[in-house]
Formats: sequence, C-alpha cells, structure tokens
Amino acid sequence: AGPCDLYSSGGTPCIAAHSTTRALYSAYAAQLYQVRRGSDSTTTNITPLSAGGVANAAAQDTFCANTTCLITIIYDQSGRGNHLTQAPPGGFQGPESNGYDNLASAIGAPVTLNGQKAYGVFVSPGTGYRNNAASGTATGDAAEGMYAVLDGTHYNGGCCFDYGNAETNSLDTGNGHMEAIYYGDSTSWGSGAGSGPWIMADLENGLFSGLSSGNNAGDPSITYRFVNAVIKGGPNLWAIRGSNAASGSLSTYYSGVRPSASGYNPMSKEGAIILGIGGDNSVSAQGTFYEGVMTSGYPSDATENSVQANIVAAKYATTSLTSGPALTVGSSISLRVTTAGYTTRYLAHTGTAVNTQVVSSSSTTALKQQASWTVRTGLGNSACFSFESVDTPGSYIRHYDFALLLNAGDGTKQFNEDATFCPQAALAGAGNSIRSWSYPTRYFRHYNNVLYAASNGGVHTFDLATSFNDDVTWVISAGFA
Ligand code: AHR
Ligand code: AHR
Ligand code: AHR
Repeated sequence: AGPCDLYSSGGTPCIAAHSTTRALYSAYAAQLYQVRRGSDSTTTNITPLSAGGVANAAAQDTFCANTTCLITIIYDQSGRGNHLTQAPPGGFQGPESNGYDNLASAIGAPVTLNGQKAYGVFVSPGTGYRNNAASGTATGDAAEGMYAVLDGTHYNGGCCFDYGNAETNSLDTGNGHMEAIYYGDSTSWGSGAGSGPWIMADLENGLFSGLSSGNNAGDPSITYRFVNAVIKGGPNLWAIRGSNAASGSLSTYYSGVRPSASGYNPMSKEGAIILGIGGDNSVSAQGTFYEGVMTSGYPSDATENSVQANIVAAKYATTSLTSGPALTVGSSISLRVTTAGYTTRYLAHTGTAVNTQVVSSSSTTALKQQASWTVRTGLGNSACFSFESVDTPGSYIRHYDFALLLNAGDGTKQFNEDATFCPQAALAGAGNSIRSWSYPTRYFRHYNNVLYAASNGGVHTFDLATSFNDDVTWVISAGFA
C-alpha cells in the first residue's frame, strides 16, 4: 500500500498527494511531475518506474542532458487535479517576471529510495508553488491532516517554508486563514526547545509550536536528514507530530485545543495549497520537499503511524551531489574559460571582485596566485566544495545578490551556504559546471568577464540564455600557484 491507501483505509482520504520521488498510491502509475528544459523550453512528464514505484529519474536525466531543467508542475496523484505550479505574486512579489516565484531546479535534491535515484524539490529563497483553486481541501473549521517528508539539514529562519492549506488570493487575510506545516528556525512568531529547526503550524500571522503563541518547550528541535512533519487540525483540536523519516516512529509534540489568541478558534481555512512559501507569498525561506499529502478529515494517530512505517520502508537515503571530473580537497586548482574567444582567461579575483583574466606561465606571481584556488570541503555542505583564495587565505568565493565575490569567511550559516558549490559534469562538453548548493538553478558564469551565480534565461542581464552552456563550462587543472 502507499500512504494514500493507508489514509483511505483510515477513513481520511488524501485530497492532494504530491511527490517528485514516488507514487503515493500503490496503483498510481501516471505523471508525478513535469520538467522544462532550458535548451528549447519543451517539457516532459516524469512517471513512476512502475505502479506505486519510485520516479523514473533516468528519464529526467536523459531529457535534461547538457542543459538545465526546472520543475514546472508537481502533479496531484489524488485524482482531484490539485496540481502545484509556479506561485503567483501576492502580498509579496516573487523574483521572476510579473512577480511570480522561481521554479525549483530539477537536480538540486537528489536522493535514493530503496537504492533507486529520485529528485526532491529544492526550495531556495524566492522559490514557490501554489494552487489557489484546489478542490476538496478543508475550508472554515473543517478537519484535515497532512504530512511532508523534508530535508532536516536544509532550512532557514525566513518566512516561511510551508506545505499545506493557505489563502486563495495569496494575501494575508487574517488569523486562522491558514493551516500548513512549517519547517525551519524562524523565531519571529513561535519557537520550540533548543535552537531549531522546528516543525510548527503556520496558522497565519503566527507559527505555532503548541498551545501558546511564542515558545512551547514541548516542540523539540528536529534535525534528522529526513524529517516526517505532521500537522492536523479540526474543531478546537490540532496536533504537531514528527519523526525521523528513515527509521523509528512518530512522536506527538502537541495535541490539544486551539490557541486562545484571537482568530484561531474556530478556524477560517480557505483551501488553497502552498509549497515553499508563506500564505501571503512570503518568499524568504528555504527547504527541501520530497513528498506530502493533505487529507479530508482528522487522521487518527494510528493511521499516521502506519504512514510513517510506509515512509521508512521507502528507504530514503542520500546520494552524491556532484558529478564530472573529481576535485581533491586541499589541492590548488585553476579554472579555464571554455567560451570561444575567451579561452586564455581563467577564474581570478581583483580584490573582492571575482572575474576572468588572461593568465599564462609567463604571468606575474601575483596574477598566478589571483587565479589559483584551494579546494576545501564545502563550508555549508560537506558533500560539495568551497574555493579558498590562494593569496588571501580565509577568503572564499561566495555569491551575494548573485554576483560572485571574494569575502573573508565569517562562520555564519549564510556565508557558509553562499560559499558552497557542487561541481557537475559540464553543460558543454568536457569539464565541470559549478552549481551553487543553495541556489541549484545557478552556476559559476562569466559575463563580460565578471563572475556571477547565473541561471539559464533568468531575469538578470547575466542570466542571458545565449552562450549560457559555454559560459558555465570550466576546465579545471592544477593551480598556477
Ligand atoms: O503566519 C506566518 C506568516 O505570516 C504567513 O505565512 C504569512 O502569510 C504571513 O506573513
Ligand atoms: O546571492 C544571493 C543572496 O544575496 C545570498 O544568499 C545572500 O547572502 C545575499 O543577500
Ligand atoms: O564573459 C565574456 C562574455 O560576455 C560571455 O561569453 C558572454 O555571455 C558575455 O557577453
């Protein structure tokens, strides 16, 4: 059985079922998600390998070979057509044209399920999906349940990495107009024990960790690599539950009456569905989503426990974030441009500016050092890399407003993540393309001989699709110094 078969047996059927990694019904064999590639803007649908099975990641890899791909649709498997697509502007604007949110890279969150490769939805700040015309979702004070399997190492304190029920007009329409899973370490509203991240309920104008607004010590920090986050709510009753999605069982962090703060009892749920954003399209949060559902009715703990067992049996596990020619930690490297007309240039820096410069064996020692980089274990994720300046030890290449800069490491989570990059097989022939860990739609790209973290055809001048594959392809060799 799949998770939604279990919810059906429990009398609380799924009214939305979203996953890029697997079918959530044992009989489901249709589309899981759609990707669009950068090379020709065509799309394809990814289905399970077999009914009830894991997504056909190989089909995605073939379709996306030598180009970039974005996740354009996360299909609803429940049959209700509650698909998730690029979120429109609301109280806040997204970064894309017309205020739409970014779409997720199709390759930012690779995993395996029972040894078979699949991809999750890696939400960088600015990324969001939504359905403002969902059918069968809870409205008013009606009961619902939901769970989501998330990456417990990918979060932040921005508002709000959510999955669940929200406003149908993308605006903050008041307390109690949402009921969604929140995951992260925001302390703007509620918090739990320790320093986070926490599973909380986003009930609008408040992330709730328990009965009271603010801190509830019963809600623990939860940091498993794979987290199962559960929220459910009905008339004057709601609960927060959580677990390691790779082993063990669910714990209940809160179960009881609604908060006494005004507007949350009864609830005024509106029934839209959001992923990766707040109810008003707040777009500052990050996180990774693998699968999740919403139900009609208040699921029993027993039903949720059987779903947890099903998730554990799916055996989520990590896999490599890199591909292409391997890098060696501790080595000094150079990165040569491959775009025709520029191939005597190497990735270098001038002060804090990161650029390309013409370098050769007869260059000055100073220039050779400016164009040489020490490979370090990724400051923000040890499965990827950071690049430390040979002539300015302690300074690393990082993105800031999507320009690449050479800045002194300051030990913050923000800096470390901005300075973490995952090399992959080059988009154009031999060599490497160097993907940002935190914004996997973005790569090291030279544009007018200046370095950016650029996406393929995005809104910035430096995102220009023309010459993108060549500009993001680098030949990595021994450093000059
Ligand atoms: O409740 C927290 C957030 O507050 C909601 O997600 C958003 O709509 C509002 O800004
Ligand atoms: O480069 C994009 C973002 O810009 C970085 O993550 C952040 O440090 C800065 O605000
Ligand atoms: O960085 C040099 C060139 O500048 C790039 O190849 C091109 O995309 C831009 O015009």
